[in-house]
Amino acid sequence: MNRPILASIHTEAFQHNLNRVRELAPESKIWSVIKARAYGHSFDAALTGLASTDGFALLDVQDAAWLREHGWKGRILLLEGLFHENELALVQDLACDLVVHCDAQLEWLERFNAHKPVNVFLKMNSGMNRLGFKPIAYRTAFHRLHAAGYHMHHMTHFANADQVDQQPSVGSQLEVFNEAIEGLDGSTSLANSAAILWHRNALGDWVRPGIMLYGASPTGLYADIEHAHLRAVMQLHSEIIDIQELQEGDRIGYGGRYAAPTSMRIGVVACGYADGYPRHAKDGTPVWVNNASKNGEGVICPIVGRVSMDMLTIDLRNAPFAHIGSVVELWGDQVPVDTVAQMSDTVGYELLCAVAPRVPVEIK
Ligand SMILES: Cc1ncc(COP(=O)(O)O)c(C=O)c1O
Repeated sequence: MNRPILASIHTEAFQHNLNRVRELAPESKIWSVIKARAYGHSFDAALTGLASTDGFALLDVQDAAWLREHGWKGRILLLEGLFHENELALVQDLACDLVVHCDAQLEWLERFNAHKPVNVFLKMNSGMNRLGFKPIAYRTAFHRLHAAGYHMHHMTHFANADQVDQQPSVGSQLEVFNEAIEGLDGSTSLANSAAILWHRNALGDWVRPGIMLYGASPTGLYADIEHAHLRAVMQLHSEIIDIQELQEGDRIGYGGRYAAPTSMRIGVVACGYADGYPRHAKDGTPVWVNNASKNGEGVICPIVGRVSMDMLTIDLRNAPFAHIGSVVELWGDQVPVDTVAQMSDTVGYELLCAVAPRVPVEIK
């Protein structure tokens, strides 16, 4: 028997979240962002659950090849374009759309003898100062690639669509972008999840949702998406593998971070930081525990003591019927991944992407 830990990926939740994107951006087409193995959910699950998307956006041309091998005939966007010049022929064979964000990529494309048209999403740095051509250089880059026969489109990325009163604002980036592309042909791609949720004036012809497709929050706070009708796609489950009876003052685990305030039962759960659970989770981070016999009815119990490599420990005072073998949800429907992330000073993005290869994945 394997360790009892399991990440279940619910493809109907993917479909549900994709439908939510369509409701929020009905005029736009959707690039479903599935970089980082679909934010840790696996390409397999994304291909099934997001089959009705208009296109997939990812990073590596090898992953684009995987999608083609597994039957995906729709659009694929390489979000950071080429990493090396010699990838171009394969990109063309795979009929990928390409982001072009810098002069080196532009020169590679000019040198390449494209035998069929390639769609280019030219990326503008409208204020985030990560990737992209500054507005002043953008039009020249656009005209050069257009002259070289590429089908040209426009793209930018927002730095603060999840924040209020933070510069550069969505409004300021949008203004820069619109001014720079004025009079140029081609579709536009602007919005990430935060802009889809909160800046409906900044969507563009193609939206690029990532985190919301997985049912987590762009801000890192579950409260911010609580009413957005998104569903958690990943459910991370394990089981109680041992129970300790502590007396008042007994300490738990490495460093003895937690001292029992009273006599209490502690559940030892088969999940640790080598599974991707954050080592920095504070005492009080919630897990959901099946409180036995009562038709799977569960309760929330707090983590107590430091998370170790393969195990974590929970206070079972809320779960008097829990026993060895009781199911524990680390995150999913009952415990938002964002809550675990918040208690560990990070965001749901990081936790989802960091689920370790040793955790078995089941696609439902
Ligand atoms: C260029 C680009 N577009 C879209 C996304 C999706 O962002 P989010 O997951 O916040 O929706 C990302 C992710 O970081 C990105 O880098």
